[in-house]
Amino acid sequence: MENVCFSIRDAKPDDCPILMKMITELTVFEGTEKELENTTERLQKDIFEPEKMASCLVATYKRPENDKSEVIGYCLFYYGYSIMKGKLVYMVNLYITEEFRGRGYGRSLMKKVAQDAVGKGCQRMQWTVLGWNQPAIKLYQSINSIDLTATRNCHVHTLYKEQLVQFANS
Ligand SMILES: CC(C)(COP(=O)(O)OP(=O)(O)OC[C@H]1O[C@@H](n2cnc3c(N)ncnc32)[C@H](O)[C@@H]1OP(=O)(O)O)[C@@H](O)C(=O)NCCC(=O)NCCS
Repeated sequence: MENVCFSIRDAKPDDCPILMKMITELTVFEGTEKELENTTERLQKDIFEPEKMASCLVATYKRPENDKSEVIGYCLFYYGYSIMKGKLVYMVNLYITEEFRGRGYGRSLMKKVAQDAVGKGCQRMQWTVLGWNQPAIKLYQSINSIDLTATRNCHVHTLYKEQLVQFANS
């Protein structure tokens, strides 16, 4: 969904401060803000330096009374691999600032990531969502995604830094 005010573009290095602000808002929304260790500088390095770890699209909005577009959301993602299907895209975060929710912008951002992934030959798109996040779950259900916890009893595992280092050095 596109209109004259709304558009989607690749993130630029200059967007990193606003991206970091929205990432912080997302962690507050999810109740994980105390765990946030990322910084604007690290984000910029990880998205824009040659050995980039992730890609990012931003949603922008131009208010009628203002000439300049503002960034109102983002989708951060990276390409990965599945032994079953081959190339996949993993969506790390989808976020639309509160004022602009419910206008189809989140869905449009996700669709653009899906379109680019199909263009790159991806066979699959994957992400995780917290079980209580009903607005996001409604969006994901509306595009026919499959909840792997429900269908395959699949659980997301992680090693935090302490356990990661402990294991690496064991
Ligand atoms: C989840 C989020 C990105 C959705 O973005 P959005 O622009 O508000 O969503 P859209 O307007 O594109 O909605 C698309 C569909 O999602 C569903 N949906 C979105 N928000 C909803 C809500 N509050 N209640 C019920 N359904 C909702 C609807 O099915 C909707 O389709 P419809 O408008 O045709 O009914 C946005 O709410 C957000 O940033 N939330 C906070 C951060 C977050 O939860 N991110 C996802 C982490 S996994």
